[in-house]
Amino acid sequence: MSHFEYKDGVLHAEGVALTAIAEEFGTPAYVYSKAQLLENFAAYANAAAGRDALVCYAMKANSNLAILDLLARQGAGFDIVSGGELLRVIAAGGDPKKVIFSGVGKSVEEMRLALEHDILCFNVESIPELHRLNEVAGSMGRKARVSLRVNPNVDAKTHPYIATGLKANKFGVAFSDALETYRVAATLPHLDVAGIDCHIGSQLLDDAPLLEALDKLIELIDTLGAEGIHLHHLDIGGGLGIDYGDGAPVPVGEYLGRLFKRIDAWRAEKHGGKPIKVIFEPGRSIVGNTGVLLTKVEFLKHGEEKNFCIVDAAMNDMARPALYQAWMDMQPVVQGKPGGTVFDVVGPICESGDWLARDRDLAVEPGDLLVMKTAGAYGMTMASNYNTRGRVAEVMVDGSKTHLVRRRETPQELFALESLIK
Ligand code: LLP
Repeated sequence: MSHFEYKDGVLHAEGVALTAIAEEFGTPAYVYSKAQLLENFAAYANAAAGRDALVCYAMKANSNLAILDLLARQGAGFDIVSGGELLRVIAAGGDPKKVIFSGVGKSVEEMRLALEHDILCFNVESIPELHRLNEVAGSMGRKARVSLRVNPNVDAKTHPYIATGLKANKFGVAFSDALETYRVAATLPHLDVAGIDCHIGSQLLDDAPLLEALDKLIELIDTLGAEGIHLHHLDIGGGLGIDYGDGAPVPVGEYLGRLFKRIDAWRAEKHGGKPIKVIFEPGRSIVGNTGVLLTKVEFLKHGEEKNFCIVDAAMNDMARPALYQAWMDMQPVVQGKPGGTVFDVVGPICESGDWLARDRDLAVEPGDLLVMKTAGAYGMTMASNYNTRGRVAEVMVDGSKTHLVRRRETPQELFALESLIK
């Protein structure tokens, strides 16, 4: 069940009408449902219950402290890609010992910070990164736990900008180089070779490519074991998609069920029954349907070829349509107006690429509210201040209560860090 539903013709987030939220907090605003967030996390937690497994939420999808806090309380770990994200985890009360650090370009300072906080594991993506981490850890008198991000060369069949597991992508160590890279890692004195990981892409509706990637990782674990390199964990990455209104993904429970079944069979047959911890890095499937972007219609403009519905949200608030030509569902907050027109829904930014939805049949007037649905993932985290537009307010709904979890930025704040030359 969705926690965004129409009641008496007005869209609600849980028990609160979005019209009331617009009145209290203004527009544009991201509105999140706490219940939806907890339900999404529980789908992973329940499917992994009783197993040695850790769900490390990929916080790049949405890193608001309130969201991190709620997930941390459910036992979530975090997948981070910067020192800044680690500081957010700590600020939200998350446990750094449940943090894994992904990304191709970790700086010395970021490695140091992560080692100071004794994070669970570095997901290393290249030999130079292994050497840098070994040096940094050595200089601190520590050992860094590492996993190698292996590129299994599996086609995730998703948008090219969000496919990451192919040979042509910048990510990971090529499958054919993995053994040699592990051998290098095993010789470095300040590294503790702990695991293997991959992440093949995002918004996957089918789990077949993920299971194919799993088979490749398992094959490598066996090869490494034969060389005396024994791994303690297997991290399958994130990537499970969500329903943007144009197709539903395989349910989380089914995917995890199939994955654990394969792992169990392999452990029994080839791994001598030895345990292996399983790590997941889901982002979108935890927060995507947790949020909507609430926006107000400013003007309607009827052009020669197109009709435009100009709203107060723009590509700086939600970049996915402009960046990936992503199809995002737009709906009126108040239903039931007669006589729709086909509009492009666009923002006020001075770019033709500033559109949120194209060719949508909408019955709207200036002043009406619209929502972009399923906007909780890669919305606010990708927002910018382009055109000196402050980032929008974020509101979390919990039953009949609303909480402002990030206030709207003021224009003054946007240039407060700048100075004139003397
Ligand atoms: N782990 C790693 C190493 C990743 O790079 C990502 C996402 C994830 C986990 C989480 O993937 P998810 O479960 O969310 O699919 N901005 C794009 C998506 C970029 C994904 C980048 N990596 C979008 O809006 O579609």
